[in-house]
Amino acid sequence: MASQDTPQRYGTFTRLLHWSMAVLIGWQFLSAIAHYGFEDSAFEALFWPSHKPLGLILIVLVVLRLLWAAKNLANRPPAVNLLAKLGHLGLYALLFAVPALALLRQYGSGRAFEPFGITLMAGGGDKIEWMVDLGSLLHGELGWVLLAMIVGHIGMAFLHRKQAGQINVLPRMWGQ
Ligand code: HEM
Ligand code: HEM
Repeated sequence: MASQDTPQRYGTFTRLLHWSMAVLIGWQFLSAIAHYGFEDSAFEALFWPSHKPLGLILIVLVVLRLLWAAKNLANRPPAVNLLAKLGHLGLYALLFAVPALALLRQYGSGRAFEPFGITLMAGGGDKIEWMVDLGSLLHGELGWVLLAMIVGHIGMAFLHRKQAGQINVLPRMWGQ
């Protein structure tokens, strides 16, 4: 069935997760860039308000994706080399850690968090210093590391396609 992964290609559901998350992550980084470099601009006003709720959607999607990957591990196209394997693992780790650290900081701040009108954190509690400090220390920094890894990932996908003797991996995830 096309929806299942095989050792030759990723299936429909894996592709749906990969490409929908790629688009959402693109949006998420536009909001981070707007916040970092374009304070009080129309660019920030457009993108930044979605940063927290979209970050929440992304952590839900990444957990779903990790569970799906674990279930299909034996049926997936093998990584082209050790670096590719470690790269994909690193992407997964940061895709989870970056929003998780932000949520930890949000909780530790003692302030309410009500994405989409749902009260996830009621707020009103005491500030928990270590949670706020850890989140503030690492969330943004690891976020930029994730962006660098994504740029490298996209670059490698095209490099494998262009270089002679390499496996063209793009059809595993797109087309075919
Ligand atoms: C995959 C999901 C996420 C990514 C890739 C991401 C990425 C980033 C990046 C790169 C920055 C640095 C921007 C700057 O330096 O101004 C940032 C800042 C921020 N993010 Fe996220 N974020 C994500 C999820 C979240 C979530 C879930 C929350 C809150 C619940 C959140 C809250 C914030 C806040 C308040 C800032 C500004 C303070 C700071 O720089 O740490 N983010 N995010
Ligand atoms: C936010 C952006 C992206 C992230 C976080 C990401 C993450 C990943 C991960 C974790 C995998 C391993 C398979 C899986 O578990 O899904 C993968 C595979 C793949 N990605 Fe991406 N990806 C992104 C964007 C892109 C883009 C824009 C391209 C297009 C050039 C691309 C091309 C591929 C290809 C060809 C594979 C299969 C590689 C192989 O089987 O060796 N990805 N991606």
